[in-house]
Amino acid sequence: MEKDLKKFSQRLARQQFVKYLDSDEIETLTASLGHTISQEFEGQELILVGVLKGSAIFTADLCRHIKNVRLTIDFVQPQSMGRSDKSQGTILFNKDLSVDVRGKNVLIVEEIIDSGRALDALQQRIRMADPKSLKIMSLFDKPYRRTTDIQPDYLGKKIEDHFLVGHGLDLEEFGRNIEDIYYLKYPQ
Ligand code: IMP
Ligand code: MG
Repeated sequence: MEKDLKKFSQRLARQQFVKYLDSDEIETLTASLGHTISQEFEGQELILVGVLKGSAIFTADLCRHIKNVRLTIDFVQPQSMGRSDKSQGTILFNKDLSVDVRGKNVLIVEEIIDSGRALDALQQRIRMADPKSLKIMSLFDKPYRRTTDIQPDYLGKKIEDHFLVGHGLDLEEFGRNIEDIYYLKYPQ
């Protein structure tokens, strides 16, 4: 962690990062979610749609816990145009689906849900492609500032209203490779 912190801008001091979840806890949550999916989709086809960039690491870990499912994997990258705390901003897709999901079971794999805007747009996008079923999984949920009615069908853990860094979650693009998860404590 010390070395990783050097990548952040200097205004973020060491004491502003507080350990929140260690990698063992994250692995336990991921294994449990993978087991649930293995049971629910046993013997069926399923397309995992990971939401870049945050969920790249979670999707990679999750897919290795899914057994006896005919699994394929795709990624999308939504981008919020305009200020992310404003509900009226448009969501564009930097990367769209690259497989045909018509008539298929689709599971969106997200790392964390906050306002739910990105997922709301993604859900609408995928519904237009007429899948057989569409479910949402998220490793973490912060339901406090939701501006949509998005709810995960499968959830790892509801968390407090913190800004998290590590395990795919970034602060100004850095920190995705940190194994544990920290939250950012703003100076008083
Ligand atoms: P939403 O559209 O507001 O739900 O935005 C969700 C996206 O914002 C997530 O997929 C993350 O990419 C990013 N995000 C939300 N909360 C955090 C956080 O605590 N740390 C890092 N990224 C976050
Ligand atoms: Mg994300």
